[in-house]
Amino acid sequence: MRMYDLIVKKRNGGELNEEEIRFFIENYTNGQIPDYQVSALMMAIYFQKMTERETLALTMVMAESGDMLDLSGISGVKVDKHSTGGVGDKTTLALAPMVAACGVPVAKMSGRGLGHTGGTIDKLESFPGFSTGIPIGQFIENVNTHGISVMGQTADLAPADKKLYALRDVTATVDNMSLIASSIMSKKLAAGADAIVLDVKTGSGAFMKTEEDSFALAEEMVKIGKNAGRKTVAVITDMDQPLGFAVGNALEVKEAIDTLKGQGPEDFTGLCMTLGTQMLLLGGKAKDEKEAESMLREVISNGKALEKLAEFVHAQGGDEQAVYNPELLPAAELSVPVCAPESGYISRIVCDEIGVCSLILGGGRETKESIIDLSVGIVLQKKVGDYVEKGQPLGILYGNDREKLQAAGQRMLQAYSFQEKPVERKPLIRGMIS
Ligand code: URA
Repeated sequence: MRMYDLIVKKRNGGELNEEEIRFFIENYTNGQIPDYQVSALMMAIYFQKMTERETLALTMVMAESGDMLDLSGISGVKVDKHSTGGVGDKTTLALAPMVAACGVPVAKMSGRGLGHTGGTIDKLESFPGFSTGIPIGQFIENVNTHGISVMGQTADLAPADKKLYALRDVTATVDNMSLIASSIMSKKLAAGADAIVLDVKTGSGAFMKTEEDSFALAEEMVKIGKNAGRKTVAVITDMDQPLGFAVGNALEVKEAIDTLKGQGPEDFTGLCMTLGTQMLLLGGKAKDEKEAESMLREVISNGKALEKLAEFVHAQGGDEQAVYNPELLPAAELSVPVCAPESGYISRIVCDEIGVCSLILGGGRETKESIIDLSVGIVLQKKVGDYVEKGQPLGILYGNDREKLQAAGQRMLQAYSFQEKPVERKPLIRGMIS
């Protein structure tokens, strides 16, 4: 088999078979096929698209390119949750303890943030001493003992995807539906869960900017999950403005703690309830949505979900006192309000830009090697649809450097648009594919 022939076949609109897909993935991963040939193939795929069969084959081959985690040592149905990413997306921090407190084992592999979106691991490291660099044996033992564990994605989880994603990132071939779906699902399948709940974001802060594309991506991923024998559900949710109010690592942890106390923002709490409901249903812990919702409400009102977070933090070496005293979390020295330049209803917040503000303050990574400041970020005071008077704060910036605070403040103002008439608020949950 020759890579050249595969490029020609795809360029001309042909369908690659499983053997051909295996050939290019295996030989690309082991360094036999050069970047420039795979770049050409990615561009051919970008224009010609992939069939369902090709997408499934690519997913399976990438999943099998490294370790396939065996979670059979954990009893119960293991349900994973994955978000396609966004700004202020702290969902795992609140959702995982909620679901674990209801009896569904949470065995989750998470990543670090890059660019303007944060990663769950960075957020968790806001708890002094917390570590996700635990060996797999301890990960499984923690889930069996505490019902919950989160570990960092190992280098050997879908290494083919890691290499391919880095190449797509610099060859303008990321935003192809099949390539995104297979990239995400290969990691989910390799991570070993029995069932998967996908949170597919839509809007200015998401990969998929339109609802149509987000539904199509969700459908593609659900099909892959089912074909691979995993129960899979996707919820399509808004990312046209940040989720909740807090953006930035420790600030998001605080908001997740508030949510576990029943005092979280309405949108974020609603998202945790919706995703949690699906996780309890797939995990076989609730017979219907009503029962699942009442179980989730119960673990918030009786404090069990908050206790579960503390237990989880302690089990991974973190200071669980910070769960009860969030002032023990990293805190920035300076805070500056960003005030509305005019009166009116907020018609738009360019979501990515708020993520960039956090990045400017030091809360995100410009490169994989960047060291991040866990204390900085933004707490929005107003969101889309709210009315503001000129001079009222739109948000508070938290930082440790005056110049960065000034630059972030200017950038944040550019992200807001105002209008005189009231604005129709869009629902957070746009739909579900199951
Ligand atoms: N996230 C991934 O893991 N892969 C993609 O291709 C896009 C988003």
